Amino acid sequence: MTTVYLNGTFLPLEEAQISVMDRGFLFGDGVYEVIPVYDRQPFRLHEHLARLQASLDGIRLTNPHGADAWESLIMQIVASAEWQDQGVYLQVTRGPGPRDHAFPKIIQPTVFIMPMPLSPPSAESVEHGVSAITATDNRWLRCDLKVTSLLPNVLLRQLSVDADCAETVLIRDGQLIEGSASSVFIVQRGVLLAPPKTNLMLPGITYDVVLELAAAEGMDCVIRPISEAELRSADEIWLTSSTKEVMAVSRLDGQPVGSGQPGPLFRRMHAHYQTFKHTVM
Ligand code: PDD
Repeated sequence: MTTVYLNGTFLPLEEAQISVMDRGFLFGDGVYEVIPVYDRQPFRLHEHLARLQASLDGIRLTNPHGADAWESLIMQIVASAEWQDQGVYLQVTRGPGPRDHAFPKIIQPTVFIMPMPLSPPSAESVEHGVSAITATDNRWLRCDLKVTSLLPNVLLRQLSVDADCAETVLIRDGQLIEGSASSVFIVQRGVLLAPPKTNLMLPGITYDVVLELAAAEGMDCVIRPISEAELRSADEIWLTSSTKEVMAVSRLDGQPVGSGQPGPLFRRMHAHYQTFKHTVM
């Protein structure tokens, strides 16, 4: 049985119910986080809670809990779940109200937290990399907010499923932005390149971890805009996210990336990440 938290109560997932008038349901009016948990220790919890605050600020919704209350709720969900390693999904919506685009006068946010099994990339995909396709980024101009209105991401992600690929890499105005549900890095002549955080991409928590680990490993690393041409001629392409960790793209739009196998910098980063995720809160 999976226990979830909904608006002040811990209860079985099957019994958790919200109103059909919830603005999360009617408008996708809410924000969320996905926090990886290793050995029942949330990884980068404070960073996820800080990004949650930024997303709430971005949609003008008051945070229903302080950081200590969030941590306590999350730790209770983590303890109740059956998995040592897991992902904690949490969502805050603007709650129920009449169906009117404008905010209701009185707001009772809906708070939902659930544990999910974490399925890190298979040994096969770490060894050989994954295939990805590219698509034009047709999302809005506040992709820095982690909002539940994910329809554009859903449709973009499905393009890669239809093409039997692991991810859709998004390009806007000739620049690499991110994946439909991941951050993207490239390696060019031994240098790790990361697109800068702007309003057009989610500030990935794993993105930050990878940049920290790259610095610790002494990798040359530059944060700057990356053109589509540079993406297509990259020696390595990496995807990162809280659920995928670090993965190598070995084929992009059917063409081999570099040698067509995960590159040497990826292998170093992947190995470092595996140790790091278990040793640091
Ligand atoms: N998604 N960019 C997008 C659009 C994402 O949806 C995600 C993660 C990331 C990576 O962010 P982080 O490293 O903080 O997980 C980048 C989560 C996992 C999801 O929606 O399930």
